[in-house]
Amino acid sequence: VSGLNALARAAGKLYFGTATDNTTPEFTDPTYLSILENYNQFGQLTPANAMKWMYIEPEAGVFNFTLGNQIADLTEEYGMVLRGHNGVWYEELPGWVTSTDWNATGLAYAVQRHVSGIVGHYAGRVYAWDVVNEPLNDNGTMREDLFYNALNTTYINIALEAARAADPNAKLYINDYNIEYVGTKSTAMQNLIKQLQSEGVPIDGVGMESHFIVGEVPTTLVENFQAYEALGLEFAITELDIRMELPATDELYEQQKQDYYTVVDACLQVSVCRGVTVWDWTDKYSWVPSTFAGYGDACPWDANYTRKPAYDGIAIAF
Ligand code: XIL
Repeated sequence: VSGLNALARAAGKLYFGTATDNTTPEFTDPTYLSILENYNQFGQLTPANAMKWMYIEPEAGVFNFTLGNQIADLTEEYGMVLRGHNGVWYEELPGWVTSTDWNATGLAYAVQRHVSGIVGHYAGRVYAWDVVNEPLNDNGTMREDLFYNALNTTYINIALEAARAADPNAKLYINDYNIEYVGTKSTAMQNLIKQLQSEGVPIDGVGMESHFIVGEVPTTLVENFQAYEALGLEFAITELDIRMELPATDELYEQQKQDYYTVVDACLQVSVCRGVTVWDWTDKYSWVPSTFAGYGDACPWDANYTRKPAYDGIAIAF
């Protein structure tokens, strides 16, 4: 068996997959597409941007599914799993959402219409939806975004209930970062989950983003993952990349290989970890350099499409 998805499936996982961004020149790059479309490497796709609110509902109640459909169609053409990303997030919102002075009733309606619209459109085609994205601050309090300010935590209930009604078979996730390891934010996420469960709100899984730094991968991944399993949830590694401070060295590439191994191995150690998604697979199109100044080289393939030691770390772990 060769190829990261083929290895993941042989190891009993649903997929190894990647984010992909058809809002950028990636999709006019034939070399990029030829590797992306290799099912032995990628058995799952997440649209990095195409299904976000600003792209998919640019005007109130007016949906544009063109870009989302392109990714969904690709997954069907190649037999890949589709993860929907995302329903409600404080970033990449259209102007009509950010510029309205919402009252609770109006925003509850807008959230319900948005989530129903996107989850309903893709019903039957999506394995899992990140229905709510990044609701927590790093200190474990709720992020005081426009949703929370108008609706408190009830926007989460509204979104999850709308998603369940629109596609009863999709796994409903909350996705966040810095919840991958034992700590305040992970405890807060578990408390949020328990609250939702006690209220009878549908919640199936948690997305562990996993934007890590070479040499700083948390040591409590497995212990933390088991706490989510104990809540009756499944989970996935949803946005893995492991960035290094540039310039790269052979030592950093070796450490990165070890770090990718550690994360994939942690998923393998917990049966309800469904799969691993990298937040794009080549350094050519990674979001890291433009987001974290001085950092880069975070992906398993380099910018020339050559596999890095990190690739072998993933393959060996599976
Ligand atoms: C990022 C995309 O990769 C970028 O292209 C975009 O400009 C900003 O968003 N957490 C998430 C993802 O849940 O949606 C983010 O994706 C990365 C952080």
